[in-house]
Amino acid sequence: MALINPSILSADFARLAEEAKAVEGADWLHVDVMDNHFVPNLTLGVPVVESLRKATDTPLDCHLMIEDPDRWAPQYVEAGAGSVTFHAEAAAAPVRLAREIRAKGARASMALKPATPIEQYEDLLPELDMLLIMTVEPGFGGQAFLDIMLPKIRRTRALIAKHGLEMWLQVDGGVSDKTIERCAEAGADVFVAGSAVYGAEDPAKAVRTLRDKADA
Ligand code: DX5
Ligand code: ZN
Repeated sequence: MALINPSILSADFARLAEEAKAVEGADWLHVDVMDNHFVPNLTLGVPVVESLRKATDTPLDCHLMIEDPDRWAPQYVEAGAGSVTFHAEAAAAPVRLAREIRAKGARASMALKPATPIEQYEDLLPELDMLLIMTVEPGFGGQAFLDIMLPKIRRTRALIAKHGLEMWLQVDGGVSDKTIERCAEAGADVFVAGSAVYGAEDPAKAVRTLRDKADA
């Protein structure tokens, strides 16, 4: 069954607790951490994750779009994240980092920007609980889905099958009721949606619609 992870990047940051509650019933809450260096935008950090953890029962899926994740990612596990995603382009020692995240008790995940090929990371897949394929250039919500990423999703799904792994394959960026079926068909099973959920009149209903379409 598809997992739907609303991104609070498109929520009202002054009402984060309420906005988190508005999507209870979603599988995970996707928390976009940006440092204005790895991406040209700035969002939130460890203290906000600590507070969010207390504000909702939905597990937190932290997506770190930051430099030096080797230093910071473990702190997000300590702050209460159930899954921590670092970027392949930013990690100095991705294997050591993934092992540290797992050892601290969270799911370890690695993200790839659109121009980063999956093939060079094939041997690392067993170290990960999830691979995130960005379907926009990271940094902002509300961008158009990049159809050119569909072949990469397919190739990644094939590599996961080849190695007999249980890991999840997440897509993030431009996922909506118009694009989610294409992602699911290509092999994704975890779907991040920001504007498609928080831009909807009824965010909880938008989550259900996305799940139905992904599972169809
Ligand atoms: C973008 C973030 C996404 C963003 C997606 O860099 O990683 O999680 O919130 O927003 P939408 O779903 O609006 O493209
Ligand atoms: Zn994200």
